[in-house]
Amino acid sequence: RKPRVCVVGSINMDMVTTTDKMPEQGETILGESFTTHPGGKGANQAIAAARLGADVVMVGAVGDDAFGNSLKARFRNEGANDEAIITVPHESTGVATIILSDGDNRIIVAPGANKYVTPEMVKEKQNSILSSDIVLMQFEVPMETIEYTVELAHKHDIPVVINPAPFNEIPENVVEKATFITPNESELSAMEQSIDTSSIKLKIIETRGEQGVAFTLAEGKEKTIPSFKAKVKDTTGAGDTFNGAFVTEYVKEKDVEKAIRFANAAASLAVEKIGAQEGMPKREDVVKRMR
Ligand code: RIB
Ligand code: NA
Repeated sequence: RKPRVCVVGSINMDMVTTTDKMPEQGETILGESFTTHPGGKGANQAIAAARLGADVVMVGAVGDDAFGNSLKARFRNEGANDEAIITVPHESTGVATIILSDGDNRIIVAPGANKYVTPEMVKEKQNSILSSDIVLMQFEVPMETIEYTVELAHKHDIPVVINPAPFNEIPENVVEKATFITPNESELSAMEQSIDTSSIKLKIIETRGEQGVAFTLAEGKEKTIPSFKAKVKDTTGAGDTFNGAFVTEYVKEKDVEKAIRFANAAASLAVEKIGAQEGMPKREDVVKRMR
């Protein structure tokens, strides 16, 4: 059967302005284009997993506005379950303002309805979690929700993957109960400021963009799985594609190394189109890239 993935996380509309030069402080410049794209780390990871053949249920929240309605409909169109997405009255859907220049990005997220992904809400939707093979979370919903969900999943022996992005201090119980933690380089060095990562090396999967992905083998040796070559247009959501692909393949293969390689290939395809979710591949595209 298909891997069952539950994502507890954010749903945003991304407002992308492209420019050939980033403005300096106090400076106004004329950019090139403006487009809106579905985004949010949670939604991105959920859609990535769904495209790659997972049975996905998203636990999240949108506002009672046009963005919210269209983002929610999108889950159904992608074959993902939207029944655990609530609509919050009098609140706006999460929005990310993205400046894209030369394949590089700067992002500000206004969480809006994502703040309503609370422990109480997760409790109400707990069947979505308990019927899944794996749970995937990021740091765009309240930290107490992450803590509550990790505890719940752990109690029921369901593996949890934590993508600590955007960086925030990780509570001890989350570190302890997570199966894998997937920081990028800067998130990992921030983590190392507050916790001793030497005892949790086997949990850490470090994504280093073009430099590949580093992890530690059971016998204690570090290993890097190289990235795949890509014609980069927009790296927004590359990490999200990696995470969605990683959990899907990990459930299928129960092999960290295989799952990383698969997820690297998926991410390399996603960066070739503008927009976090545009460019997210289907399984057969990933298999082709891995050949
Ligand atoms: O990881 C990329 C995502 O971060 C974007 O889609 C944006 O919504 C922000 O949440
Ligand atoms: Na993309």
